[in-house]
Amino acid sequence: MKIQPSQVDRVLIFDTTLRDGEQSPGAALNGDEKLAIARQLARLGVDIIEAGFPFSSPGDFAAVQRIAEVVGTEDGPTICGLARATRQDIQAAADALKPAVHSRIHLFLATSDIHLEHKLKMTRPEVLAKAEEMVAFAKTFMDDIEFSPEDAGRSDPEFLYAVLERVIAAGATTVNIPDTVGYMTPSEFGGLIRGIKENVPNIDQAIISVHGHNDLGLAVANFLEAVKNGARQLECTINGIGERAGNAALEELVMAMHVRRQYFNPFLGRPAESEAPLTNIDTRQIFRTSRLVSNLTSMLVQPNKAIVGANAFAHESGIHQDGVLKNRLTYEIMDAQSIGLNDNQIVLGKLSGRNAFRSRLKELGFELSDQDLNRAFVRFKDLADKKKEISDRDLEAIVQDETQTQSGVGFALERVQVSCGDHECPTATVTIRTPEGQELTDAAVGTGPVDAVYRAINRLAEVPNQLIEFSVQSVTAGIDAIGEVTIRIQHEGRIYSGHSANTDIIVASAQAYLNALNRLFNALQHPTQNPQTFQEKAAQPTQAVAQL
Ligand code: KIV
Ligand code: ZN
Repeated sequence: MKIQPSQVDRVLIFDTTLRDGEQSPGAALNGDEKLAIARQLARLGVDIIEAGFPFSSPGDFAAVQRIAEVVGTEDGPTICGLARATRQDIQAAADALKPAVHSRIHLFLATSDIHLEHKLKMTRPEVLAKAEEMVAFAKTFMDDIEFSPEDAGRSDPEFLYAVLERVIAAGATTVNIPDTVGYMTPSEFGGLIRGIKENVPNIDQAIISVHGHNDLGLAVANFLEAVKNGARQLECTINGIGERAGNAALEELVMAMHVRRQYFNPFLGRPAESEAPLTNIDTRQIFRTSRLVSNLTSMLVQPNKAIVGANAFAHESGIHQDGVLKNRLTYEIMDAQSIGLNDNQIVLGKLSGRNAFRSRLKELGFELSDQDLNRAFVRFKDLADKKKEISDRDLEAIVQDETQTQSGVGFALERVQVSCGDHECPTATVTIRTPEGQELTDAAVGTGPVDAVYRAINRLAEVPNQLIEFSVQSVTAGIDAIGEVTIRIQHEGRIYSGHSANTDIIVASAQAYLNALNRLFNALQHPTQNPQTFQEKAAQPTQAVAQL
């Protein structure tokens, strides 16, 4: 939907999971995974999806273009692409965004003296002129232009005001204030937004947005203070993932404004008792979105994470349990259902047919091609043989597992078998199919069954790497629960992750390892297609664009 600065009477949610979130080490996503997340973000109700940085690599360009095509519909969110303040970046973003009905170019140029002197090697007047020129250039492609003075938090406020005035005059419709290094405190950040409102003469022609990193754990608090002082767009990520310590977490911001609506209402000029939501987010989609992002990025959510952590709604102490049983309000400020946590119906079983399976997946928001549906149905039947009742969470695990396992080329797991026990030497026999289609089998012993499986795979795939993290979690309770394995491997300082779900955790471990190996293999095969770090992306030579 089209966003006009003068009509904004709520807080806009700008999700950057697919751009800044993807900058988390090891969280790189392929095109299918990005599209699956973008679809879910649209269901969640975000106003703007920052889908990527199109100039950075052909892979990112194609992913932004596909999201623009599929998710950027008339009723869908605005699709945004990031660009540095250069003509090539802006051109690539405009090209990738063409299929979207509502699109936005987000361009950035640093304004702090430390960035000007050491990174850009530009003077203040040069930055002013460049910012104005590039906004005007971006404006030739579309109306909706966002400008970010990078490192605004450490910039001289007077210079910042001057830059903002110039870019708004040149056509910027949103000015985003980034605390790039996560340095600010809530009252300082609120004061910065207030200062902008009071000192930039044409500020009423643009929406004030904020973007901030969580280096000191203050990002969410900073944003809420910014809202109180006039910010009307929040740039955030699911589960707070992102560069270094991450970004402000979408679920925390949204639920803070939902639960404490009466407190925030007056800051938006509403009566305190107004029931109108402060954001457009369908809060019941929060938990599902969190799981999807965690599974596809292989970034686990810490158990005590606010809102979406496994313990967020668990009451352990007897006193708390007693209180909650007497009256939920004694120890709970929000209902687990409000984030969709208890929407975990047990709907399918062994006798459920393809139609029931397809329609339940549709209700859960998964629209699969016939081929993907067939594959998922085989997985479902296989699971139904082992597990009596299949819940929505199980279905999500199967479909998300298929998304990660099937997308992209690489090694495929054909068979895995282990023998182990207290009097056995753990031994694994593994058969894989190589990218060239050859079936290879080998066996290895290890310190345990998973170690043996990984050693056998290493002998077959011959992709050098170091395993740095391995974890197993169960999707639901019960002895027949699906187990999810998340692993991270390292090669030449870069991290690649993999995730898989299966009732057999040895199979899940083998598949998760192959998923991570395939990402590494893919990066080795196509180094410019998949730059791994933001710095590398930003430093991509022009031939990246020549291949677009
Ligand atoms: O942290 C930052 O400053 C950014 C900009 C590109 C907005 O991510
Ligand atoms: Zn950032």
